Amino acid sequence: MSNLRIELAADHLDLVPTVAGWHWDHGGGEDPEGSRETWTQGLLTRTNRDRVPATFFAFEGSQLVGSATLVDHDMPDRADLKHFRPWLAGVYVTPAARGRGVGSELVSHAESRARSFGIARLYLYTREAVVFYERLGWQTLARDDFVGPITIMAKGLA
Ligand SMILES: CC(C)(COP(=O)(O)OP(=O)(O)OC[C@H]1O[C@@H](n2cnc3c(N)ncnc32)[C@H](O)[C@@H]1OP(=O)(O)O)[C@@H](O)C(=O)NCCC(=O)NCCS
Repeated sequence: MSNLRIELAADHLDLVPTVAGWHWDHGGGEDPEGSRETWTQGLLTRTNRDRVPATFFAFEGSQLVGSATLVDHDMPDRADLKHFRPWLAGVYVTPAARGRGVGSELVSHAESRARSFGIARLYLYTREAVVFYERLGWQTLARDDFVGPITIMAKGLA
């Protein structure tokens, strides 16, 4: 896609509340004690430029259309998964922009950045997008339950 750009959230901090709002609307049910505001504050802490946690925003022209984040751990309460790190999280494309490759580009970009940070392997969990990630080379590690059924996946970046 010729007019797709992926940039650091660190360069667009004013857009963090918008993106956190997307995430809240899509996944806030997983966090009964959270709010749009706490998710905004949380995302603001994930805006490093050269290390995890870092967030990337996708733009089509001047339009913000998606996001992806690298975090140390996306299931920190799970002691049994503590050695699985870091994780890809917050992969989201606005409904009107889906199906044009934005999600795939965001994932590839996050993988490249992770590699440049010296990371050899990434993890994620997803509820519905297993096939999307399989096409991008991710493999299923386990099926599990986290406020409903999820699939934990991994990808080596070597
Ligand atoms: C998943 C998501 C990021 C894909 O973004 P996108 O920009 O549409 O992705 P792309 O255009 O690169 O790829 C789209 C392809 O993935 C497939 N795909 C997208 N979501 C899918 C899903 N949930 N299950 C299976 N396939 C899916 C589409 O069918 C499409 O395939 P096609 O090209 O054969 O039609 C987007 O649908 C989204 O934000 N969904 C809501 C949030 C979410 O589920 N995030 C991932 C959770 S970890």
